[in-house]
Amino acid sequence: MQELIWWQHAVIYEIYTRSFQDSNGDGIGDLNGILKRIDYLVLLGVDAIWISPIYPSPMADFGYDVADYCGIDPIFGTIQDFDRLVAEAHRRGLKVILDFVPNHTSDQHPWFLESRSSRDNPKRDWYLWRDQPNNWLSHFGGSGWEHDDKTGQYYYHSFLKPQPDLNWRNPDVKAAMFDALRFWLEKGVDGFRVDVMWLMIKDDQFRDNPPNPGYRLGQAANNRQLPTYNSDRLEVHDLVAEMRAVVDEFPQRVLIGEIYLPVPQLMTYYGRDLTGANLPFNFQLLQCAWSAESVAQVISDYQGALPRGAWPNWVVGNHDTARIATRIGTRQARVAAMLLLTLPGTITMYYGEELSLCNVPIPPDEVQDPFEKNEPGLGLGRDPERTPMPWDGSPSGGFTTGFPWLPLGDEHEIVNVEALERDDYSILRLYRNLIQLRQTHQTLVRGQLKDVTAVNHVLRFERTGKDDRFLVVLNMATEPAQIELAAGTVLSSTHLDREGKSVGGMVDLRAAEGIVVGLDK
Ligand code: GLC
Repeated sequence: MQELIWWQHAVIYEIYTRSFQDSNGDGIGDLNGILKRIDYLVLLGVDAIWISPIYPSPMADFGYDVADYCGIDPIFGTIQDFDRLVAEAHRRGLKVILDFVPNHTSDQHPWFLESRSSRDNPKRDWYLWRDQPNNWLSHFGGSGWEHDDKTGQYYYHSFLKPQPDLNWRNPDVKAAMFDALRFWLEKGVDGFRVDVMWLMIKDDQFRDNPPNPGYRLGQAANNRQLPTYNSDRLEVHDLVAEMRAVVDEFPQRVLIGEIYLPVPQLMTYYGRDLTGANLPFNFQLLQCAWSAESVAQVISDYQGALPRGAWPNWVVGNHDTARIATRIGTRQARVAAMLLLTLPGTITMYYGEELSLCNVPIPPDEVQDPFEKNEPGLGLGRDPERTPMPWDGSPSGGFTTGFPWLPLGDEHEIVNVEALERDDYSILRLYRNLIQLRQTHQTLVRGQLKDVTAVNHVLRFERTGKDDRFLVVLNMATEPAQIELAAGTVLSSTHLDREGKSVGGMVDLRAAEGIVVGLDK
């Protein structure tokens, strides 16, 4: 059997850098903070960390507004801190993935300062300037166009006004951005998560978007129109392929794309002959209802749609979505952990999922997220899922010696790393067990996925390898369930109290209980 590349069998751990660990008392997480907790990550068993943007930034969108693609913001540390983190991570066998933000820069980026300085500036065409705006909206509310009084034209911003979109049709933009990729690749980073990959290229004629007949009140204002002309344009695939070629100049690197699209369109991001993204992020489990039926459907649809040879991946949470434990409850969060870590391909988890961390309610006067500030009260704000990692039960949770940039919430006195480490039955122990199980049995990573069924709120599927077979059975209901199984041994149970037991015939599952069974040969 062909050996897998590291990212194919990896569990990737997403770190929202501002919220993981502060090392200098300013209340904001940083690179040395990550370094301080690196052994925690090794013990958890993950293979790679993806760190949210650390580049110099005015922080209008907390780092997703980049003012220099080849530096480190002093809030997060120095380039030496970065080099040390990469070296220490690599020494422990951990890979490091950076967040790359190609769609837009900060309005403080020197390129934009030049671009807006005059109509005939050589960098004018690096951004999207027009005499008249069309009807395109910003994802964060309002028109996507901002008038520049000095030069009398409008520039386009898919997100905030201080996040002008780059013109990726301009070859100089490409060259400069590809050099930024090479800068980090030469430093030894193992790959990139590419921000809003599907938005990078817009219609060259700037045609108006049609209205969205499915729009409902309470949704983000951007949903009033269909993103026909400012997203998922055909030309984006050539660009992704070029980006991939740059990454492939270096051995064993990975290109991951953030893409929110329905499955058929998502699959096109693997590219012609798989020359696109290695992993177009699969967000299906972020959006689907938490029932055995819908999850079974999602799994079958996704796996069935994969192009030949394409490597699958799964995610249940990230820094833009309500935490899984809040969406489905803390009991089902264990079931989600078992589901996630028994599905095929690459797994990405979000910091705090291993603690069943919940969204922390943010009082209106403490809101930080510009999305919430622009469209308040709709539940669109992302602060609640970005709160500091609770390491212990002390007032600042061991996260900072200063005042945390977002509150930790009251629960952290009970739900924190220190407490869960002491508890043999905690979700943290479950995550460690499941990650270890996945690493021990490659069939869970690359085996065939078979017989996905949902009966009476119980989801089940089989993972089959050359020499072994695993059955995953997940009770997604609040009631106990009885199921019939072939004979085998429990290798993992969400309640952490059935491991090693033989099962077969009629088996009782408690409410929100899942088991992984190694089937007898
Ligand atoms: C992506 C990021 C999100 C950010 C946006 C604009 O969706 O995940 O956090 O606000 O892009 O860069």
